[in-house]
Amino acid sequence: MERRDQDDQSPTPRRRSFAFRIVSLTALALVVGLVLVGCGGDNNPYSHISPRSSTTRDIQSLYKLVFWMALIVFIGVQLFIVYTALRFRQRGNEADRPAQIHGNKRLEIAWTLIPAAILLVILIPTIQTMFEFSADAQEGEYVIDVYGKQWWWEIHYPGLGPNGGPLITANEVRLPEDRKIKLQLHSNNVIHSFWAPQLFGKHDVIPGHVNEIGFTPENPGIYYGECTEFCGVAHALMRFTMVVDPQEEFDAWVASYNTERPAFDANPQTGDVSEAPRSFGICIGCHAINGTNAVAAQAGLTGNPYSVGAAPNLTLFGCRDFIAAGALANTPENLAIWLHNPAGVKEGNYMALQIKEGTLTQEQINELVPYLLSLKPAGGCPETARQEQNLHMEQGEE
Ligand code: CUA
Repeated sequence: MERRDQDDQSPTPRRRSFAFRIVSLTALALVVGLVLVGCGGDNNPYSHISPRSSTTRDIQSLYKLVFWMALIVFIGVQLFIVYTALRFRQRGNEADRPAQIHGNKRLEIAWTLIPAAILLVILIPTIQTMFEFSADAQEGEYVIDVYGKQWWWEIHYPGLGPNGGPLITANEVRLPEDRKIKLQLHSNNVIHSFWAPQLFGKHDVIPGHVNEIGFTPENPGIYYGECTEFCGVAHALMRFTMVVDPQEEFDAWVASYNTERPAFDANPQTGDVSEAPRSFGICIGCHAINGTNAVAAQAGLTGNPYSVGAAPNLTLFGCRDFIAAGALANTPENLAIWLHNPAGVKEGNYMALQIKEGTLTQEQINELVPYLLSLKPAGGCPETARQEQNLHMEQGEE
């Protein structure tokens, strides 16, 4: 009773503070909302809300459905809470407690059925979409095997390589535009997860089971992806890019990959780099280069999963944007830093078991860097994807 008397003496400040809270909460919600809207740019390479494939557009429509339903529920509940708080708040001279009600059959049924109906509206298109994804994967025109390694990705295009074998590359997945792609995910070590947010949803890469992804990339460009399952020391540096080019450029890339003897670009530092330098002999135990005699390295799931025997195939290495699975941009300076001390760039990587600081002399690094960067097709690297990417970036800045 004592407390109520106090309240009765000061009704105005209480009411003002309630109104003040409502206003400040609304203002805060608006500001947070605006900040979040600002984050949703269409040009963020890791944004899952700027779809660039058939699959991510389907995911986007589900996302929108869930978003709007959740927003309606959220606003409804908030309005109801505010209404209830205002309508049924304690007024000065009323009795201490309202009448106590227990159980209401109609309400119980209503708040069981309404959420069930909402979930059903979400569930049905979700299951439909999941079945469509499986069907898409089965219809894939381009089947590509992805092998999760520690800590990089090996990519096989069955039948597109030398003598009808697989074309093998690493960390950069080249794709033809507007063609149905089927990715088959393999691992013989630990569980990884393969995700390029603009092209498809997350899929686990599991030893002993092949997961499949079906999608159709719709725009030329460079798309970023990474491993999203903790898989050991260098998990955070297990990235990849997907480079989508028009069909002709993709075909040209395949052809140059299989050229018996790649015509290497001349390099100003060393003149015509047409042969591997002697020091490349250290690399060929693990790395292969198509069209040369450096083809001994193991690939796919062969060998001990923990062995250091298999490493990224370096054919057309000079066209890649990144080295060490996205750890560094592919520049002469960075390549020299990497060769000087791989562990300094990417702790835990298996190359660092062989190449420690000082293993390669400065002279060896000086001849390896231009050689590796000269590994390009005779006509230069395909450029459409890169130009398209720049276009997106410029439009984003306007
Ligand atoms: Cu592979 Cu994390």
